[in-house]
Amino acid sequence: MPARNPYPTAAAFMPDRLTMSALREAVQHCEGCPLYANATQAVFGEGKLGSDVMLVGETPGDQEDLAGAPFVGPAGKLLDRALDEAGIDRSKTYVTNAVKHFKWRSRGARRIHDKPTWTEQMACRPWVEAEIALVKPRALVLMGATAAQSLLGKSFRVTQNRGTPLDSDLAELVTATIHPSAVLRSDDREAMFAGLVADLRIAR
Ligand code: URA
Ligand code: SF4
Repeated sequence: MPARNPYPTAAAFMPDRLTMSALREAVQHCEGCPLYANATQAVFGEGKLGSDVMLVGETPGDQEDLAGAPFVGPAGKLLDRALDEAGIDRSKTYVTNAVKHFKWRSRGARRIHDKPTWTEQMACRPWVEAEIALVKPRALVLMGATAAQSLLGKSFRVTQNRGTPLDSDLAELVTATIHPSAVLRSDDREAMFAGLVADLRIAR
C-alpha cells in the first residue's frame, strides 16, 4: 500500500479528466487544506484556454471570495490599470491565484487578508499546475512572493529577480513582479505602480 502523503494536498480532489469545466467544478469540493472551511467558495482562474499571458496572484480577497472571480476588488482595479498602461488587454489573459480559497482573519466586522502558509501553498499547487497545463500560456507572470515561491521554490526573492526572464520550464517566458496589493500598501504608490507596469511590459 502506498504511504499516505503526510502533507495536506489538493491532489485527491483533482478530477480524472483534466478539462477546465471539470476543474472548475471539482475545486468547489476541495478540502486539500483547511482554508475551504472559512471561505464562501473557491475562486478559480478566469480567461480563455490558449491565452498568451497568464497572471498569478496570491489568494482571493474579500470581494473575490464573494464574487467567485479573481482580481475584482481594489487590487484587481489596480491590476486593470497597470495592464492597460503596459499595453496588455486583460480580456486576452488568464488570471488566477496560487491559492484558491480566501484566507482571512477578523478585524472587528471586517475580514482582512491573511497570508497562506507554505503548507497551504503547496497543498493548493495542483490546481494552478493544472491551469498552466491547460491554458499553455506563452508568458507566465507571477505577482508577489506567494505566487513566485509557490511555483519556483521557497528561496525565490521577488525583490531581487523581478522584471526579468527567469530560468523555468513552466512557459516560454516566466517572470515575476510585485503584487498589485503591494502598490496599494506603499507610501510611494506612483513609483511602485510604474515598476509594476515596467515589469508587465516584458510579458507583452
Ligand atoms: N489579491 C490576490 O492575490 N488575488 C485576488 O484575486 C485578489 C487580490
Ligand atoms: Fe483546496 Fe486550495 Fe482551497 Fe486548500 S486553498 S482547500 S488546497 S482549493
